[in-house]
Amino acid sequence: MRRIIVFDTTLRDGEQSPGFSMNVSEKVTLAEQLAELGVDVIEAGFPIASNDDFEAVRQVARVVAGRAAVAGLCRTKTEDLDRAGEALKEAARPRIHTFIATSDIHLAHKLKMSREQVLEAAVAAVKHARKYTDDVEFSAEDATRTDREFLCRIVEAVIKAGAKTVNLPDTVGHTVPWEYASIIKEVLTRVPSAAGITLSVHCHNDLGLAVANSLEAIRAGAGQVECTINGIGERAGNAALEEIVMALKHRQADFQAETGVKTEEIIPTSSLLVEITGVPVQPNKAVVGSNAFAHEAGIHQHGVLSKTETYEILKPESVGAQGSKLHLGKHSGRHAFRRKLVELGVDLDEESFEKAFARFKETADRQKTISDDDLLSIAGVDADAASSGPFILEHLQFTSGTDIVTNATVTMKVNEGTVVRSAWAYGPVEAACKAIDQACGMSARLLDYSVKATTSGKDAMGEVVVKVEFEGRRAEGRASSVNVIEASARAYAQALNRLSKGASTRPATTVLKPKP
Ligand code: KIV
Ligand code: ZN
Repeated sequence: MRRIIVFDTTLRDGEQSPGFSMNVSEKVTLAEQLAELGVDVIEAGFPIASNDDFEAVRQVARVVAGRAAVAGLCRTKTEDLDRAGEALKEAARPRIHTFIATSDIHLAHKLKMSREQVLEAAVAAVKHARKYTDDVEFSAEDATRTDREFLCRIVEAVIKAGAKTVNLPDTVGHTVPWEYASIIKEVLTRVPSAAGITLSVHCHNDLGLAVANSLEAIRAGAGQVECTINGIGERAGNAALEEIVMALKHRQADFQAETGVKTEEIIPTSSLLVEITGVPVQPNKAVVGSNAFAHEAGIHQHGVLSKTETYEILKPESVGAQGSKLHLGKHSGRHAFRRKLVELGVDLDEESFEKAFARFKETADRQKTISDDDLLSIAGVDADAASSGPFILEHLQFTSGTDIVTNATVTMKVNEGTVVRSAWAYGPVEAACKAIDQACGMSARLLDYSVKATTSGKDAMGEVVVKVEFEGRRAEGRASSVNVIEASARAYAQALNRLSKGASTRPATTVLKPKP
């Protein structure tokens, strides 16, 4: 089993991408967690780039205190190397990471240097860096678009100069797995001294291949993988640490390789990064997305309920997630609905269950997400109680606006008959209650009315609670809906049902046309 070195560059390559910048204390906080996660190297910044980057590398090195090596990035310039050396002075395990581009396109248009000049600069930088630490890494920027002959020459030269790690980045995310593997193999074959150092890979995700390229490079002999939490990084990002680590773990027999990452710390680390940067992870992101262990389709939910492995290859707990989630939505079936109710401590008889399931489906068609609170409302006895009395609200319609008097019309089952009543008022709640009063032949007094959102978002469930008095007796009604006027009407009707037990009601039986 080969031990792959995990080099985390969230605080450098990740941090240098738009929207992800972190201040010194945020970097220190995340570095603490990266150390908990068990990465081998933390690249904490680019010390010459700014005083903050210098300070971040210094403070991260201090707080990490040898639990991981701490790297500072530098160009091949002496001032860069000296600044990194200074920032890492107190580090228990300092690493200087120096880089220069090696592809002809970068040489001609960016560096305006010849291959010989680049080679000389690389060798000189490695030698200079070695004055500060034995742990020197050299990166041949844009290695995947570099002439292979020249790439092998420079790799050999920097190893001779003292580099202990040589990184061959796919800087622009240009390569494909089989090509990257062939580069690694060619370097290992043509540069015999490469067997004595660590060959590293660093992939960008411009074609969505960063993780696949990294894994194939590991199979080809790379011993270090550079990656970031949540795959953040320049442009389309870097290879995602969590995906590489979990792929290596899940297919260990194929890779014959392992890492030192404590995988249970993956989600806490990912969440901390989100908290610090304020940039959420896409829900369908592998390993750390909120849907990574969520199932909505009825067939999948049924499978997961009988054996999780039917639709899950990773154990949620193994990455620090709280278990599989059965997401209840319009695609869900009875199995998941029943299971969820049991989890929520709700035990319904068959008839109530079927009614609740029908209400659930109805709600799921209207709402994208159904929370536990929604479910409790859906499964609650409220609606049942309302419909078990003499009054059942079958239909509500109202017309309301900013400068018109509101009209509400209700169709109610009252005992055996159907009653339609209409009422006018300033607001829709009052109009609905008045229409219900008329339909039920009860004129109750509304003592208290409250509405509160029980879920979040614009499509939140509104729970309405009413307290009603009639002939000296009081009752409460409660109902929830995304339509708070409907919830108000149902809550009111429920209260009337409770009051009607023993009350003198005179339910109307005629159907009246709404008055203008
Ligand atoms: O993508 C890249 O080439 C880099 C180097 C500095 C390692 O980030
Ligand atoms: Zn990079």
